[in-house]
Amino acid sequence: MKNNQTGHHKGNSSESCLNKEIILRELNILPGQSILDVGCGNGYMSREFSRLLNNSGRVYALDQAGEAIEKLKKETKGTNILPIEADITKRTEIKDSSIDLIYLSKVFHIFSDEQKENFQNEAKRLLKPNGKLAIVEFEKKEIDIGPPQKNRVSPEEMKWFIKMQALSLVNVGEHFYMQIFVNK
Ligand SMILES: C[S@@+](CC[C@H](N)C(=O)[O-])C[C@H]1O[C@@H](n2cnc3c(N)ncnc32)[C@H](O)[C@@H]1O
Repeated sequence: MKNNQTGHHKGNSSESCLNKEIILRELNILPGQSILDVGCGNGYMSREFSRLLNNSGRVYALDQAGEAIEKLKKETKGTNILPIEADITKRTEIKDSSIDLIYLSKVFHIFSDEQKENFQNEAKRLLKPNGKLAIVEFEKKEIDIGPPQKNRVSPEEMKWFIKMQALSLVNVGEHFYMQIFVNK
């Protein structure tokens, strides 16, 4: 199985182009929640989630890039962040129906169609009933930054892959949107 793009993004993060305030407001994180940050890169959003949970609940920071996860393990010792090295398009070690929110930022476009389907199946397995899946992606426009046009996914196209109820769609940066689905 191949990614749409080969691994030049591995373990990276590019937080500066996203509006964290809007994202966090829309995610409406509540104390005690279990949150899964998929393709967490350097873990900058996992840290934000952890801060909002105020040490209640748990943040799973998951990435297939072993180096990023090893670094994060050292940096987050003693916190409620649990770094996991795994491929989200395969079955992970996380329990069924245990997650309130899955956050996937700038990762969906990397997946092949087969991986998109596998991801949606794993997300469904992990989410609690009424749990949420938030996907941040590049707008499908001809712009200089980001992935090639053919790999970009519009909010409408995303709905073909994600078999959950689409809840909201917001702009979260100059070239980015976040679509939230609910597991119904
Ligand atoms: C472009 S970076 C995005 C990082 C961060 N989420 C952000 O918004 O800046 C993509 C990340 O997804 C990870 N990734 C790609 N495919 C993955 C997969 N199948 N399972 C887990 N992580 C994956 C990469 O290793 C990389 O860290």
